[in-house]
Amino acid sequence: MPRRIAIAALVAGLAGAAAAADDGPVPEPEPIGTMSELMIKLMYPASDAILYVESRAPTNEVEWNELQAQALLLAESANLIMMPSRVVGDHDEWMRDARLMFDAGAAAYEAALEQDLDALIALNEQVYMSCVVCHRRTRPDYGRNYKRFDDPPAEAGSAIDEGRVP
Ligand code: HEC
Repeated sequence: MPRRIAIAALVAGLAGAAAAADDGPVPEPEPIGTMSELMIKLMYPASDAILYVESRAPTNEVEWNELQAQALLLAESANLIMMPSRVVGDHDEWMRDARLMFDAGAAAYEAALEQDLDALIALNEQVYMSCVVCHRRTRPDYGRNYKRFDDPPAEAGSAIDEGRVP
């Protein structure tokens, strides 16, 4: 009976894997992407989904799901950069700065779950500032190479209107 054999093989395989894992060192979180890769490939698009939510407002369940995923990614990205090996500069300041992104992302996720567009728009400034605060402190080239992004917008939404990114 091929099906039963397949299941037996699967069970044996799992047992083997478990045994192998027991023998080796206990796995720990390990970075794959560089800080720059995380920023460009995860945080940047995830925060854009929130920062541009007014003009890209979800219109159906599928789009709300996608927005929820982006907000969740933004919040969980904060956990990724809080991994000990990823800390840049002063530990405590790094953790506090990352927590700003965690809080902004968590609030955006909550609002996205409730499909509350107004709440998401209201969170724009908080999301934007969560990026700016850490960048000002940790990126020495921030003022020079990122001139476009140096000052927070006077009013929520103006960063988006001007096409700036944090
Ligand atoms: C806790 C600190 C911290 C937070 C929070 C943070 N960043 Fe960064 N970001 C960095 C550091 C450090 C670099 C420089 C990385 C490098 O070049 O090695 C960086 C670089 C970047 C870059 C440039 C990457 C490159 O190589 O050109 C982008 C884009 C970026 N961040 C986007 C964001 C966005 C969007 C947010 C907020 C949603 C954010 N970051 C929040 C620390 C942070």
